[in-house]
Amino acid sequence: MFQILSKQELAQGTVVANEIHAPRIAAKARPGQFIILRVNETGERIPLTMADTNPERGTITIIYQVVGKTTALLKTLQVGDHLMDVVGPLGRPTPIEKKGTVICVGGGTGVAVLHPITRGMKQAGNKVITIIGARTKDLLILEDKMRAVSDELYVCTDDGSYGHHGFVTDVLKEQLQKLGSEVKEAVCIGPVPMMKFCSQVTAEYGVPTLVSLNAIMVDGTGMCGCCRVNVGGETKFACVDGPEFDGHKVDFDNLMQRLTAYLPQEKEAYELFQRKCACEAQS
Ligand SMILES: Cc1cc2nc3c(=O)[nH]c(=O)nc-3n(C[C@H](O)[C@H](O)[C@H](O)COP(=O)(O)OP(=O)(O)OC[C@H]3O[C@@H](n4cnc5c(N)ncnc54)[C@H](O)[C@@H]3O)c2cc1C
Ligand code: FES
Repeated sequence: MFQILSKQELAQGTVVANEIHAPRIAAKARPGQFIILRVNETGERIPLTMADTNPERGTITIIYQVVGKTTALLKTLQVGDHLMDVVGPLGRPTPIEKKGTVICVGGGTGVAVLHPITRGMKQAGNKVITIIGARTKDLLILEDKMRAVSDELYVCTDDGSYGHHGFVTDVLKEQLQKLGSEVKEAVCIGPVPMMKFCSQVTAEYGVPTLVSLNAIMVDGTGMCGCCRVNVGGETKFACVDGPEFDGHKVDFDNLMQRLTAYLPQEKEAYELFQRKCACEAQS
């Protein structure tokens, strides 16, 4: 169980896609849901969205960015290795229905989270306009897969190395100006500042907007309270009430502040891990 069946490095090796054998999770998973995994017995539990599922093969695909100790440790696993445990599917699935025209906006690794939702929106009969962005061309992921599930695809890079030179919010604004009330919903997933500014743009046009909140999680089942987020003045737990919420009601500044709560410890753990790897490589 939980054997790694494939491994692909994306975005210059900073992002990794793994197909994992997890038939019971694959059979139940719906777009927008996530898993919590542990790499080994003493490992930290980390949440990752299922970027794809294949119930026939009994597999789920995760796509993760290497940002700290656990994602770096996960990247050391090879095809044939096993994860210690995988819990899921967790969280509420994305409410997908035929609405007309929807805009899906993804930034960075958020594009991986957005992929099954975009596909679901298309399969439900919506006209799907997708906008994806990255800092630079080499860090852009899943362009072809997103094109395949969209009616129109726009690409943005912060440095202008590919597609529109600028942020996804620029193209979002252009599309909303062009299409007006034809757009029935927006789904925006990426770094917290990106979701905040996308939500501000869609609010100007009165377009209902879903965002997926990447709060720090521990149990993922509503027991520890670690993933508290403020939505419309109420406390919600991202793991069981979300991870998707109305972007016009989310207190993004509070989320950003909570995400920095353990920065010194995260930095120390990553540095220790990197030193250990360097020592092992030398011996
Ligand atoms: C529901 C959910 C789904 C997610 N899906 C994905 C996914 O599909 N792909 C993916 O790459 N990441 C995803 N994340 C984020 C992922 O869980 C974190 O990047 C991971 O836990 C970092 O662990 P680490 O030990 O490697 O780094 P840490 O040492 O924990 O953190 C290193 C750096 O990453 C930042 N960080 C830590 N936790 C998070 C977090 N939850 N979100 C954003 N930044 C964080 C820290 O501020 C720090 O700067 C998701 C998070 C949630 C809550
Ligand atoms: S992660 Fe513990 S309540 Fe959500």
